[in-house]
Amino acid sequence: MKNLKTALVTGASGGLGLEFARLLAADGYRVVLVARNESALRDVASELQSLYGAEAHCYPTDLSKPENVETLLQQLTSDNLSIDCLINNAGFGDAGYFLDKPFSMHREMMMLNMFALTRLTHALAMEMKAKGHGYILNLASTAAFQPAPAFALYAATKSFVLSFSEALRYELRQSGVSVTVSCPGPTETAFHDRAATRTSKIMQMGMMKPEVVAEQAYKALKAGKRRVVHGWLNKILAMSGSFTPRDVLIATTHKMMKP
Ligand SMILES: NC(=O)c1ccc[n+]([C@@H]2O[C@H](COP(=O)([O-])OP(=O)(O)OC[C@H]3O[C@@H](n4cnc5c(N)ncnc54)[C@H](OP(=O)(O)O)[C@@H]3O)[C@@H](O)[C@H]2O)c1
Repeated sequence: MKNLKTALVTGASGGLGLEFARLLAADGYRVVLVARNESALRDVASELQSLYGAEAHCYPTDLSKPENVETLLQQLTSDNLSIDCLINNAGFGDAGYFLDKPFSMHREMMMLNMFALTRLTHALAMEMKAKGHGYILNLASTAAFQPAPAFALYAATKSFVLSFSEALRYELRQSGVSVTVSCPGPTETAFHDRAATRTSKIMQMGMMKPEVVAEQAYKALKAGKRRVVHGWLNKILAMSGSFTPRDVLIATTHKMMKP
């Protein structure tokens, strides 16, 4: 196996994950692509091979199932793939009121947005720490900055990602492993089809392009930044949460999110 740096991207079959995979491949990384849709992953791998001459490995799997996350980790070991850069990008949301949704969907969201991210981080950050270097990028959201009625669980999973990432970054500050958290606002991807958020008021703010968000996040990762909030409007909204009375903030967020 060639002596290349290796990056693993979850949710690499489309949206932001595809953009991260392109940036990493263009930078000379060997890329490990993970998502459920095998044929979409194979298309991404062919694109990266033909455009950048990149070595790309596909691991189609459903990361919302903890046993699949363990299998993936075992496969990486048996395939001799040591990860230098981990992009925990796979995630989904589902707009609507908490009790109107089946618990199976809530569990799937928690397992993907939080459990898979945490398990992969634990296993791969351990290896990175032993090597004395590594990069981790976790995808949170501007939803992380305030409770969001009608998007309650999604926002809570992203608050988890933000809090966990910033604390872990501090714990690892002398290890050579850098942790960065990205907080995009609305971004034009298939996320909004699955989340059913296209009719929410928040969409009137407009959406950023996934390639722009991914490039900003990747730049922040390489620069070893703690956190990046994408776009000036999102930066203002994220900041405004800290000085707006909590009740007002929650009611306003509900107005922005309700179907
Ligand atoms: N788009 C936005 O407005 C926005 C804003 C803030 C934060 N984010 C966050 O950014 C990240 C990327 O979102 P995106 O906008 O790129 O969404 P997207 O276009 O829907 O892409 C999501 C990716 O995750 C994969 N995925 C979904 N469920 C999976 C599962 N159970 N196991 C493995 N892979 C799975 C999908 O591939 P398969 O379907 O092939 O599995 C796809 O590659 C997410 O964490 C999201 O919460 C997005």
